[in-house]
Amino acid sequence: MKVTVFGIGYVGLVQAAVLAEVGHDVVCVDVNAERVENLKNGIIPIYEPGLTPLVKSNYEAERLQFTTDAEFGVKHGKIQFIAVGTPPDEDGSADLQYVLAVAKTIATYMESPKIVVDKSTVPVGTADKVAECIAAVLKTRGVSLDFDVVSNPEFLKEGAAVADCQRPDRIVIGTDSAVAESKMRELYAPFNRNHEKLIVMDVRSAELTKYAANCMLATKISFMNEMANLAEKLGADIEKVRLGIGSDPRIGYHFIYPGCGYGGSCFPKDVQALVRTAEKVGYTPELLRSVEAVNGRQKEKLFSHLQSYFNGDLAGKRIALWGLSFKPNTDDMRDASSRVLMENLWAAGAIVQAYDPEAMNETQRIYGTRADLNLMGTKESALNGADALVVCTEWNAFKAPDFDLIKETLNHAVIFDGRNLYDPAILEAQGIAYYGIGRGRSVGA
Ligand code: NAI
Repeated sequence: MKVTVFGIGYVGLVQAAVLAEVGHDVVCVDVNAERVENLKNGIIPIYEPGLTPLVKSNYEAERLQFTTDAEFGVKHGKIQFIAVGTPPDEDGSADLQYVLAVAKTIATYMESPKIVVDKSTVPVGTADKVAECIAAVLKTRGVSLDFDVVSNPEFLKEGAAVADCQRPDRIVIGTDSAVAESKMRELYAPFNRNHEKLIVMDVRSAELTKYAANCMLATKISFMNEMANLAEKLGADIEKVRLGIGSDPRIGYHFIYPGCGYGGSCFPKDVQALVRTAEKVGYTPELLRSVEAVNGRQKEKLFSHLQSYFNGDLAGKRIALWGLSFKPNTDDMRDASSRVLMENLWAAGAIVQAYDPEAMNETQRIYGTRADLNLMGTKESALNGADALVVCTEWNAFKAPDFDLIKETLNHAVIFDGRNLYDPAILEAQGIAYYGIGRGRSVGA
């Protein structure tokens, strides 16, 4: 099928490459000319396992094209995906300006019936707004063309995005049009072979499904972080508690890992956006507000541990930081906990010596060159001359480090572990002070 994808970010690029791989003829349109040019030259703008070869091979096979020419893109696809960003606006609501700009572009150039698919995460009611926008432009053009607006939210996880798109656990389609449903079934047929994965529903329910999924996951994390904070005060180990509750199949082991807060491009903004949506319809979202507040507090946790350990005097201290991306296997730094930590450390006069397997360029891009940020080539070199080690992201490369080297190299043999990667007993036996999240021990205790 002929498909056009507007927005070549994490979602649009992965979705486009995976659709091309099964044989669809995909054109990607982006307003970022540099990104488009780079992609044509095989330079992939994001780190995502398996993505580079997938993009290159499909580009070479001419099943995947990149362009800034919106008119060409609109004329190409029967199906037009909108996969642009929906960042928070000043009050935390999802900013729909990019989504509506694409809707307007589609309406400006379309010459045949189209199925417009909202792939971006958008508030309930957005499909109606997209439809109104397209209808208004068609009216000013004086043309009458059929179109459907479908909600098809994306559930991929960064770090596993290609695999998630190739083998989705569900494909949610929100539409009340039989024609649109049958086209979407045809598009996704290659991904729907072993058992039925399509869940077809009305548009508003599909739009809410995406927010409900992310808010549920964020709630699980904030719940565990609250338990971890309690465990710390009560002398209990949250990691034991995690195993004890996860063994109950009604609870399960997934997404109950405590840590230094959730980040990324989705959970923080989607929780906020649903809070604002609720408020706008006169509902008080007590639970979601708390999920957000608990997470905000949790992102301060490592800094407050460091402050207590160094008796409030962090000026001139060098802090080794392992992990900058908001989670492993991505270079995405959006709303990452490491940023809150680094910014707090800088405000307190400390120097950060950071290492991340993939997010060094992104960190450089965000913060530029500054005297209190040293981006180091290896995790070992980040330790040189440092007063403490902090772990912010659970990359595999950090899971079994050389503790002897850490002890020898650091000025103070102390690790602040924001992801509970290490066993406190082993570190204690090695003579390294260890502060995790909710491991039954407060700093200074
Ligand atoms: P992104 O910021 O990585 O990419 C957005 C792209 O859209 C950029 O390349 C930008 O230049 C382009 N763009 C903006 N306006 C445009 C226009 N008028 N025409 C063509 N291109 C335009 O965003 P990302 O992370 O891919 O997210 C996109 C949407 O998908 C958001 O709504 C997000 O909430 C949702 N989502 C994101 C997931 C993720 O893990 N990143 C997962 C599931 C959903």
